[in-house]
Amino acid sequence: MSRGFPLFRTTSPVAEAERAAILGAPGFGRFFTDHMATATWTPADGWHDRKVGPLEPFSMHPSAAVLHYAQEIFEGLKAYRHADGTVWLFRPEVNARRFARSARRLALPELPEEDFLTSVEELVRADAPWVPDSANEGSLYVRPFMFASEVFLGVRPAERVVYSVIASPAGPYFAGGLSGVTLWISSEYTRSGRGGTGAAKCGGNYAASLAAQIEAKQHGCDQVMFLDDTGGDGSLEESGTMNLCLVTSAGELVTPQLGTILEGVTRDTILTLATDFGLTPVERSITLAELRAGAADGTITEAFAAGTAAVVTPIVGFKGEGYEFTIGSGAPGEQTTALRERVLDIQYGRAQDKHGWLRQVV
Ligand code: COI
Repeated sequence: MSRGFPLFRTTSPVAEAERAAILGAPGFGRFFTDHMATATWTPADGWHDRKVGPLEPFSMHPSAAVLHYAQEIFEGLKAYRHADGTVWLFRPEVNARRFARSARRLALPELPEEDFLTSVEELVRADAPWVPDSANEGSLYVRPFMFASEVFLGVRPAERVVYSVIASPAGPYFAGGLSGVTLWISSEYTRSGRGGTGAAKCGGNYAASLAAQIEAKQHGCDQVMFLDDTGGDGSLEESGTMNLCLVTSAGELVTPQLGTILEGVTRDTILTLATDFGLTPVERSITLAELRAGAADGTITEAFAAGTAAVVTPIVGFKGEGYEFTIGSGAPGEQTTALRERVLDIQYGRAQDKHGWLRQVV
């Protein structure tokens, strides 16, 4: 059982007028709230020193293991303000369980689910005035993370680890994302292989995606789409920060199966909601050849990306080395738009929460 994360309130919070200006146009990941949660782990004491205190820099020895061997994991979830002013988290237990799986893969100590939930809730409560309202899709993006802080250059699991949670008011992840994004299908880079860290949410996966992201931008695309590592005409995996979903003319909602991809919370939410929209959820491998043929003959009618930050973002086209194509008419699809609205309506308390996904914090 968690011993709680007691609050030590900052004596120098951001002034109300400045906070209001930030909440008016937060962007994504640029501004941070007044507090942070922290806890420390050592083999002798387990998890200890749990607290929510003022947001402040970490002081780290230059040999801290994370700086050399990237022993680090993170999560992303959001707090939503409902019209009556209350604040809710969306499926935080699913993030807590994935955080534990990521920890196992990166040989980090598992944080009990109870500690994950308490730390997130206490931080959101302390910084509740930072939760934007639903106008312009505002939310408080919450970022739990864990890293190896031991002062040691040997390569082995660290014996001192820090867990922390910070929070950042957020608007839409993609400026103009509602009109749809175009993805670059990289034939140069892959993101994971069998037995690798593809299913873990670790910083290294995202570091490795950046060169591909540059490649995508150079080709005028918003994000990269990774294929698996089988070479040649591989199967679709996931985008730099989002899972991929396709809608077919046969009424299926198809998404790549788990294994080497991130088990996205929004991905799972979409699979669960699909039947409400007359769509049969299917998790299977989709080859690039199938995507290109389906886009050409109209059997793939819509594509979208799913993620906590990106919510449901329509994908209107793909480009790769020597080819490019649109999905449907090159505009966001009807089912995509409807699914997106449903997810947001549940998150903002405008639709019935039939699955019990919301957890009230304030
Ligand atoms: C999220 O949607 O929470 C993500 O992990 C994307 C993030 C890397 C910006």
